[in-house]
This record gives sequence, C-alpha cells and structure tokens, in this order.
Amino acid sequence: MADTEPPLAPPGVDPIWSALLRHRDQGGAAPLPADPLTALFAPVLAPPAAADGCLVLGRLAQTLDGRIATASGSSQWIGGEGDLLHTHRLRALCDAVVVGAGTVKHDDPRLTTRNCPGPSPTRVVLDTDRRLGPDYGVFTAGGPPTLLVCAEDAQGPDRHGAATVLRAPRSAIGGLDICALLPLLAARGLKRLFVEGGGLTVSRFLAAGCLDRLHVTVAPVLLGSGIPAFTLPEAARIADGLRFDWELHRLGRDVLFDIALHRARPGVCQ
Ligand SMILES: NC(=O)c1ccc[n+]([C@@H]2O[C@H](COP(=O)([O-])OP(=O)(O)OC[C@H]3O[C@@H](n4cnc5c(N)ncnc54)[C@H](OP(=O)(O)O)[C@@H]3O)[C@@H](O)[C@H]2O)c1
Repeated sequence: MADTEPPLAPPGVDPIWSALLRHRDQGGAAPLPADPLTALFAPVLAPPAAADGCLVLGRLAQTLDGRIATASGSSQWIGGEGDLLHTHRLRALCDAVVVGAGTVKHDDPRLTTRNCPGPSPTRVVLDTDRRLGPDYGVFTAGGPPTLLVCAEDAQGPDRHGAATVLRAPRSAIGGLDICALLPLLAARGLKRLFVEGGGLTVSRFLAAGCLDRLHVTVAPVLLGSGIPAFTLPEAARIADGLRFDWELHRLGRDVLFDIALHRARPGVCQ
C-alpha cells in the first residue's frame, strides 16, 4: 500500500507536488518524478479519452459502513487531515469542482484550494429545479467563478447571485442528464472535472457511465445510520454489482481506494 500521508515539509516546498502543478500547467509537457504521489495523481492529469472531451473523477469520504454524513447532513469531518489535503489537491489539479445542491445546502462550502498551493477551480453546482437561494457562499462575489446548472425548463434569470446559469436537459430518471452536461462543460473549457459529492451526485455520474476514475476514502468510523455514499437501482444478484480493480493508498489513518472505472456503468443501470 503506497503511503501518501501529507508531507512534514510545508506544502509550498513539496517538490513532488510542485512538479505535478508544473505538469498540469504545461499540458503534460513537464516531466513527473517517480513517487507514490505521482502514481496517484498522474491519471487525473492524463488527456481526456472520452468523446465528450472530459476526464471525470468522482470522490467521496465514507465511514467503514458506507455513510458520507449523519442523517441530519453533518459530514465534517469523516476523513482526517490527509484526506482534506487530498481533496484540496484534486481541486487544484482540475478545471472544475462539481457538487450537488444537497451539499451546498448542508455545508455551504467554498470549494477553494486553501490547504495546498495551486489554483482554485471553477465551481459547478448541480441544482436541477433551482431550489437553492443565491445567498450561499459559492454564489456570492469575490471567489472563483461559479456555474449554477439547472434544467432547461427551470424558471429564473441567467444569473444566480454572482454565478452564471447554465441550462442542461433533464434525465428521464431524475436530476440532470449527465451525459448531455459533459460536452456543455467541455465547450466552456471545463474538461478535467472533480465530482466532490454528495452521494447522490457521484451516484448519478456513476449510473450514467460518466466516471473515468473514483477515489473513495474509507475512515475508521462506524455510524450505523446516515446518508449513504452510493445509491443505485436495486441489484438482484451479487453478479449485478460493478466489480473493478483498485489501488490502495494510506492517508494517515484513512485508506484511499483509487479505482480506474474507465466510464464503466453498473449492470443495473444499463
Ligand atoms: N463525505 C463526503 O465525501 C461528502 C462530500 C460531499 C458532501 N457530503 C455530504 O453529503 C450530503 C449531501 O449529499 P446528497 O447525496 O444528499 O446530495 P448531493 O449529491 O449533494 O446533491 C444532490 C441532491 O440534492 C438534492 N437536494 C436536496 N436538498 C435540496 C435542496 N434543499 N435544494 C435543492 N436540492 C436539494 C437534489 O435534488 P434534485 O433531485 O432536484 O437534483 C439532489 O437530489 C451533505 O450532508 C454533505 O455534507 C459528504
């Protein structure tokens, strides 16, 4: 198991992280040193392979029993410091960080890279029926740009606070049509996408066959109740589940599962 605990040196002088940022900024031209951190992040920096032009990484931090928050929506913090740093690094490597409306409602997050050197990504909030008010932090002026994505038939102006509104088709099974959304984001230059949660949003990308990679951090916590990490149609047999290979990395006391999905879709979602 690779050990990618946060370095003891100040993050600003971590040479491996600096090399990864250079690699990102130079479109893959700058060399990457052999290192567990490189093994973890190089696939995130690979050129998008899908026809929609996007490389999409989903990520969740869950308890051992598969919960991402308590039933009342409290999720800070399931993972430890290493997982928080990992999350901020993924933000820094990607063009956009994507979250569902439920996460904005519960957490009112900033979605910036406060814990590591590197640029803050464009923030993309998926709110199908445009139920969120404009007072959440991501919609106020002063931070990185924000896109509010709602359904084509959702009412309202083309701005939402300081955010720009992008309209996308609905999915027949609820929420937005993720396959239709990806080319719309790519056309705006948002090609490397970090889907940071919550569980329903990551599950909708998974069900649509739109995840190239999945990072799941498992923390040594049992809740016994709460909001689930993954929600998919019911599988009748174990064989109906999605089976895959994974690489394991230590993040302090947590374990990170790095899964190459290559846009695989669970059998129950075909
Ligand atoms: N541990 C982690 O890694 C992690 C990461 C992120 C978030 N979280 C936690 O996950 C929870 C949220 O996850 P989630 O799976 O419930 O949702 P989510 O994926 O963040 O958001 C998607 C869902 O939010 C719905 N929604 C719920 N309340 C809403 C409201 N008041 N206004 C607008 N839309 C609303 C959306 O409706 P539509 O069906 O209309 O689209 C959609 O079903 C929060 O408690 C957050 O703290 C944990």
